Amino acid sequence: MNATIDTSLTLNSLNIVILAAGDSTRMRSDTPKVLHTLAGRPLIEYSLRLAEGLAQTPPVVVIGRDAEAVRGQLGGRARYVEQHQRLGTGHAVMQARDLLASQSGAVAVFYADMPLLTIETMQRLLQLHAAGTSVLSMLTFESATPRGFGRIVRATNGDVQAIVEEVDCTPEQRFITELNPGLYCFDAGWLWQNIDTIPVSPKGEYYLTDLVGIAVAQGHRVAAVKVDDATEMLGINTRVHLAEAEAVLRGRINRRHMQAGVTLSDPQTTYIDDTVAIGRDTVILPATHLRGATSVGQGCRIGPGSTIENTALGNACTVTYSVVEDAIVEDHVEIGPFAHLRRGAHLASGVHMGNFGEVKNSYLGPGVKIGHFSYIGDAQIGSQTNIGAGTITCNYDGSQKHRTEIGAGSFIGSDTMLVAPVRVGEGARTGAGSVVTRDVPAGATAVGVPARLRRLPQSDTE
Ligand code: UD1
Ligand code: CA
Repeated sequence: MNATIDTSLTLNSLNIVILAAGDSTRMRSDTPKVLHTLAGRPLIEYSLRLAEGLAQTPPVVVIGRDAEAVRGQLGGRARYVEQHQRLGTGHAVMQARDLLASQSGAVAVFYADMPLLTIETMQRLLQLHAAGTSVLSMLTFESATPRGFGRIVRATNGDVQAIVEEVDCTPEQRFITELNPGLYCFDAGWLWQNIDTIPVSPKGEYYLTDLVGIAVAQGHRVAAVKVDDATEMLGINTRVHLAEAEAVLRGRINRRHMQAGVTLSDPQTTYIDDTVAIGRDTVILPATHLRGATSVGQGCRIGPGSTIENTALGNACTVTYSVVEDAIVEDHVEIGPFAHLRRGAHLASGVHMGNFGEVKNSYLGPGVKIGHFSYIGDAQIGSQTNIGAGTITCNYDGSQKHRTEIGAGSFIGSDTMLVAPVRVGEGARTGAGSVVTRDVPAGATAVGVPARLRRLPQSDTE
């Protein structure tokens, strides 16, 4: 067999086991390690997506103390087994035996704390396993900074003999620079026959890595290939590692967008979650964060200094020094500088929202202008209406929220207070500084404190 064997053959009979049950004490966190987020996705998502790309059957995820939280995150995309006592990575794999022992083929095992791993690297492991006759195939890598990785011990003929955990290394073994990333592929029959023979370590743990020595002692040759990219092999044990991984991921994400036609004027200060989509010819200026389920259309200019989260933004929009959360923004909308869109803000096409405006749970129809210092909450505003500087929808009476409705083509004078619930009809006007406590009919003008009708609609006076 040669190394370019068709991996689809193995895919059919491949089960994947992801270890995610560790107590992750080194994170010093109340949140399980695998649910810490990285570029907008929980850590476990990265392993899950890899597994989904490699095997047809859902992976088996070994979960521990935080079982419910992890299940809640992944739902039906995985099969689960629980490890009630955290007795090490070997013990974690033992928990999957009842579920998988009846199936032949291959079992790939990896750890849930490796978000930088690429599918290409995992495919190399599967190819190695498919091509060889080994009961155990694995990848290794070189790094001068071994920090916590198991060391690969090779015999004089170059064959892998054992993996020795850092804590168990002799002083000489500590100097070994070939390391264990923790990516293994086993012959299923062999794995389930031998998993119970792992000895307990002095610390009371069962190391999965001991299976290497066990295979060698039985006369098997362990298939091992050294891969070049050490960055991919980063395992997250601490928050320092988390930040390092995030920096690498951010670089990858930014490159992906630039290659797809997005200009990032300063990639070093551009923070885009893995979940974000951006159209071509959009320009992202420095110190900008695009987060969560956000999509940005084509030809937009975003930033500098803006945060957009869980928002669908159309084409040809500008967002300058502003914060946009949970909003819908249609095409040709101008936002900022210093605007704040909150949950449920919906700006139709051509809306202009200038400085120091806040919009929450409101629909602003096409062409609405809200240039300066306004709060619009729980409102519906018809198309082409002009909202004067300092206008406030007084939507909260201390216990309840109320709605404001403003018709199309109205003119709301500067500093108008709209005391909700209240309606302003189409084409109506309010005077500067008016406090509107009662509905204003279509076409009418209201002024004063509280506002009284000064001019009735045109049709009524004729
Ligand atoms: C492990 C390897 C080490 C390798 C390194 C790569 C072992 C014994 N050591 O060390 O050789 O260089 O990964 O990053 O395998 N887990 C469980 N149940 C447990 C213990 C751990 O499910 O009882 C899970 C953890 O959630 C984690 C993974 O297994 O996702 C690895 O555990 P971790 O404690 O991070 O192992 P390392 O010390 O990094
Ligand atoms: Ca680890």
